[in-house]
Amino acid sequence: MTKRPTTKRPTTKRPATKRLTIKRLDELLPLVPTVEDHRNSGFRAILKSISLGPVPRILDVGAGGFAGETTTVHLLDLFPGVVDAVELNAERADVLQKKLGDRVRVINADVSDYVPGAPPDLLVVDLDSNTIPMQYLEVLPKFHGLLPSGAKVISLIIYDCEACYLGEKPLLDKAGYSDQSAFMRSYFGAERLTPAKAASALRKHGWRFLGLVDKWMGAGPGLAVGWLYFSRE
Ligand SMILES: C[S@@+](CC[C@H](N)C(=O)[O-])C[C@H]1O[C@@H](n2cnc3c(N)ncnc32)[C@H](O)[C@@H]1O
Repeated sequence: MTKRPTTKRPTTKRPATKRLTIKRLDELLPLVPTVEDHRNSGFRAILKSISLGPVPRILDVGAGGFAGETTTVHLLDLFPGVVDAVELNAERADVLQKKLGDRVRVINADVSDYVPGAPPDLLVVDLDSNTIPMQYLEVLPKFHGLLPSGAKVISLIIYDCEACYLGEKPLLDKAGYSDQSAFMRSYFGAERLTPAKAASALRKHGWRFLGLVDKWMGAGPGLAVGWLYFSRE
């Protein structure tokens, strides 16, 4: 009998950075670790885990920055009805309205001055990253007073300040680091957020933590920016 040659299986060694990515993502995804069809969008992954009423009221704040591609198009794809979209910049508001048509009601306003006709079932807050402190210290408290108990919120967060501003490949200009870091330390008690820290800080402000998800589900330019998902207590 001839002995079959032993074929050596190629070793599939993952680079260390990849392992780190997966570990960090596990830590960040108490919510929907295996959701499919997220298209590398943490926002979409969260939406896919939410069940709202048959025709939910949705308010998308800061909707025009990327002509709705980050938030609005996913909302329209996954929920029926109309999305109310608040955008400060008149030109962007116009582009958004023309692009998305009847299913979006674009309101060209500063969210600080805007009061919705009826409280939304889902509030999305995606303002520019340098205004995240204002988002948590002014916009969210204002909506806390307007939202019914159980209403859902998805809000942009920089969950790792150092990686975002001072890392090897910073995502944002380091000039923004000290303000963002000071905000993170005073609101969340750390400049690197964990689900436990997020839950504790949000509870103090009358919110119930539901999840923390990387913006690009780990497939983006770095692990630092994400979405906090919570509900009104
Ligand atoms: C990161 S972009 C949002 C991207 C958007 N979600 C999308 O899918 O295209 C932030 C947007 O927030 C808007 N913005 C900033 N401050 C605002 C405010 N106080 N009220 C309303 N919109 C604001 C900016 O003009 C910008 O278009």
